[in-house]
Amino acid sequence: MTRLVIAIDGPAASGKGTLARRLATHFNLPHLDTGLLYRATASALLDEGRPLDDVEAAVVAARGLSLTDFDDQRLRAREMGEAASVVAALPEVRAELIDLQRRFARNGEGAVLDGRDIGTVICPDASVKIFVTASAEKRAQRRALELARRGERADYQSILADVKKRDERDSARSVAPLKPAGDATTLDTSELDIEGAFRAALAIVEKARQ
Ligand code: DC
Repeated sequence: MTRLVIAIDGPAASGKGTLARRLATHFNLPHLDTGLLYRATASALLDEGRPLDDVEAAVVAARGLSLTDFDDQRLRAREMGEAASVVAALPEVRAELIDLQRRFARNGEGAVLDGRDIGTVICPDASVKIFVTASAEKRAQRRALELARRGERADYQSILADVKKRDERDSARSVAPLKPAGDATTLDTSELDIEGAFRAALAIVEKARQ
């Protein structure tokens, strides 16, 4: 079987993580949520009481990451997403994390990676590239529901403001900004439920493999 590398990019709370996990299970491939790398880097800085723009400390933290030691629950907290977005704008941090991600993508039968720059920078030769998007309002609604389910504070208006701020920062940075690769297929999930989005993503993958 030819190797299958699926690159999934998209803005915060677009549903790309859920899609990536579903696709990975379906094709029996390992999945890497690359946002966790930036979240873990930010978390290490916060633990050390360092500012998020301390480039040297951030690079050391990024270099020390191991894919097996992520404390998912803590890293997925709302504040950590915001902090990760700040750290992710540092070119030196991005450069430090490239090899780790590419090694993951090169392993075995293939892989599914989701993030912001997978199709553009990390895996420009991916077998399939999907850019998952949804309106900022829909994404904020989904994030509010998800946070409420986890028992976190979930005020819709402030979440919407967060989502927009993160879109702006992730899209405007000079290195590896959030944008679809030229050969990516865009999947707008605004009007789709999880099942519908998964079926649409599957169709994109199957078409690309023909
Ligand atoms: O996907 P996420 O919400 O877990 O990502 C957190 C932040 O990390 C996001 O706002 C931008 C950054 N990020 C990135 O710049 N590149 C990636 N491949 C993944 C995440």
